[in-house]
Amino acid sequence: MKKNFKAVTLFLVVMMLTSILAACGNSKKIEIGIVLPTKDEERWIQDEERFKAALKDSKYNTEILFSQGSSAKEKENVEALIAKGIEVLIICPFDGDGAASAVKAAKEADITVISYDRLITNTKNVDYYVTFDSVSVGKAQAQYLVDKTTGNGQPLYLYAGAATDNNAFLFFQGAWEVLQPKIADGTFKIANSSEAIALQDVATLDREQMSKIIGQVTTNWEPAEAKNKAQTHLTAAAADAKGDVAILGPNDGTSRAIADVFGADGDITSYVISGQDAEKATIQYIIDGKQSMTVLKDVRVLVKDAMDMAIGILDGTTPATTGTYPNGEIDVKAKQTDVVTVDKDNVKKAIVDSGYYEAKEFTNLK
Ligand code: BGC
Repeated sequence: MKKNFKAVTLFLVVMMLTSILAACGNSKKIEIGIVLPTKDEERWIQDEERFKAALKDSKYNTEILFSQGSSAKEKENVEALIAKGIEVLIICPFDGDGAASAVKAAKEADITVISYDRLITNTKNVDYYVTFDSVSVGKAQAQYLVDKTTGNGQPLYLYAGAATDNNAFLFFQGAWEVLQPKIADGTFKIANSSEAIALQDVATLDREQMSKIIGQVTTNWEPAEAKNKAQTHLTAAAADAKGDVAILGPNDGTSRAIADVFGADGDITSYVISGQDAEKATIQYIIDGKQSMTVLKDVRVLVKDAMDMAIGILDGTTPATTGTYPNGEIDVKAKQTDVVTVDKDNVKKAIVDSGYYEAKEFTNLK
C-alpha cells in the first residue's frame, strides 16, 4: 500500500514536471514586442522589413504585430505580447489618444514603452519616443513648393494627414511656418480651405487653429479620401485657381492620389506637389515627373535607434535621448533623426546609390 502510494506520487511529480517543461518549450519568451499600425501602407511594410533585417542577429527574441487601423486590435496585440513576457514594447499607435489603454496595460506589467514614429498622446504611460524630425518634414515639403514657385498669386492647395495622428500636426506646423509668410506676401493664394484663409495672417498656429484647418483638408492618410477631396476641390475651383498650382501633399500614398487628379485636369497647366516616405511607387512617380518631391525618412535609422534603445534597456543602461516632446500630459524623452529632401535631381544618389532601394526596382532611372 505504502509502496504503491510512493509510486503514484512519483508518477504525478514526473507528469507535472514534464508538462511544465513542455509549456516552457511551446511559448518561447519574447523580450521585445513591436506593434505597427497597418499593413495597408507601403511605409509600414518598409518598417517591418527593416526591423526583420535588423533583428536577424539580435540576441533577443522579438515579435512584430500589425493593428490594421484599429485601436482595439492594437490593444489585443499588446496583451498578446504581454502574455509572452515582453520587457520592452516598441509601438507606433494607430491613433495617438486611442493607444492609451494598451500602454496602460503594458506599464502595469512593468514594461518599458517606446513610442515609435507617432507619439502616444495624453497619457503618462510612455517612457521614450523614437522619431524623425517631423516639423522638418513639413518645412521641407513647404520649402520645395516655395523654391519652385515664381511670380505672384499662385494657387495653393493644402492637404493634411489624419487628425488622430500627432504627426499630422507636426507636419502641418512645419509647413505653415514656411508657407504663411509667402501667403502673406502674395506669392501664394490658398485655393481650397476657408479655414486656412481665415487664419492666413497668423504666423504661428496653436493646436486648435491647426485642428480647424486639418479638419477641413484631412486625407485621413487614405488615398481614396485624398482623391475624393482633390476632385471636389477642382470641381469647385474658379478659373483663377487653376493654371500653374502648388500642392501641399501630406504623404506619398495620398500625394500620388492627389497628383493623379490634378494631372488629369485639362485646366491645370502644371503642378508642384510634395510628399514624404520615399515609397517605391513614389520614387517611380518622381522619375516619371508625376510627383515633384518626397521626404526620405530613412527607416533603417529609425529601426536602429529603436532597437538600440530597446537592447540598452534590456541590458540595464539608460537610453541616450536628444530632447523631449510634449504629449499633452508629460514631456516624453525623445531620440530624433533628420530627413532628406528627394526630387528628380538627387533621386539616384539619395535612394539608389545610398543603398536604400535597388536600381532594378525602377524604370528609366538615370
Ligand atoms: C508617418 C508617415 C506616414 C503616415 C501615414 C505618419 O505618422 O510619420 O510616415 O506616411 O503616418 O501612415
